[in-house]
Amino acid sequence: MLTQRPRRLRQNNTLRTMLQETRLDKSELIMPLFIKEGLKEKKAIQSMPGHFQLNLKDALKECGEITKLGIKSVILFGIPKNKDAKASQAHDKNGYLQQTIQAIKNKYPQLYIITDVCLCEYMSHGHCGLVNSKGQIVNDPSLELLAQTAVSHAEAGADMVAPSDMMDGRVAAIRKALDATGFENMPIMSYAVKYASAFYGPFRDAAESAPQFGDRKTYQMDYANSNEALREAELDIKEGADILMVKPALAYLDILSKLKQKYTVPLAAYQVSGEYSQIMAAAKNGWVDEKALMIETLTAIKRAGAQLIVTYFAKKMAALS
Ligand code: PBG
Repeated sequence: MLTQRPRRLRQNNTLRTMLQETRLDKSELIMPLFIKEGLKEKKAIQSMPGHFQLNLKDALKECGEITKLGIKSVILFGIPKNKDAKASQAHDKNGYLQQTIQAIKNKYPQLYIITDVCLCEYMSHGHCGLVNSKGQIVNDPSLELLAQTAVSHAEAGADMVAPSDMMDGRVAAIRKALDATGFENMPIMSYAVKYASAFYGPFRDAAESAPQFGDRKTYQMDYANSNEALREAELDIKEGADILMVKPALAYLDILSKLKQKYTVPLAAYQVSGEYSQIMAAAKNGWVDEKALMIETLTAIKRAGAQLIVTYFAKKMAALS
């Protein structure tokens, strides 16, 4: 007879549930919202079924639903009416996103507002930093704009900022600017390990932020590399990041797991637009089970080491529990 029979512990659902090592909880989910200036009514994002571009009023409604479902946090992306080569709207104190942050904070003070800090949605060329006459994305001059953007979000009432631009030194620049303006307690969740990924395809429709020339490979990471991830993580911790994010999630669980072993700061993962859309598209065809895949992928992301998960499934997941 066999002595070891792992199947003994898989015999029924009760026992399996008792023994689950990883359990999802809605308090770890962060819901992304797209705030667009100048919209009359909410506009469906074709490539992301169930998601919309929202104006301020609809964003408030959405936050009401989100709060009711027991989700604790949103991450906001702004889409301005006017873009330029200096991302002027990104750090405008009276910008549409800043107004929306303020309105949400007033109406739902308990809802934890994270803001994506980036310039691409605000730049006419769609890159995450300033571009020089040779078409290069210049690092250091972009830091000042990113820092001003973060401060404008903080002043509007955001609870946490999440820089996603991948310029070198941006965490330090943002930390310094926040500290100098009285926001020394505002945490920074850095998109520390952000790969140049084809999984962002649908997001660029949603946020209208596709680069108008070239690609993001001179600032986002090469997906062939993992040592580089540790280097980015280490730099961001040194610069003052409170939480590190890995993005995308499912194809990068090895990276998440490496960071988990090496560092003690909380980790987040972003299940990005393409990860969401491919599940939704296959499910629509009846090829996969949407709910089962939602739970399986989110569980895997948590198992690999993510304490927080940014996901377009946040509402659906929260509605289950
Ligand atoms: C902005 C930003 C992007 C995402 C989050 N912040 C797009 C990009 O880098 O091109 C992607 C999110 C998603 O795909 O859901 N820089």
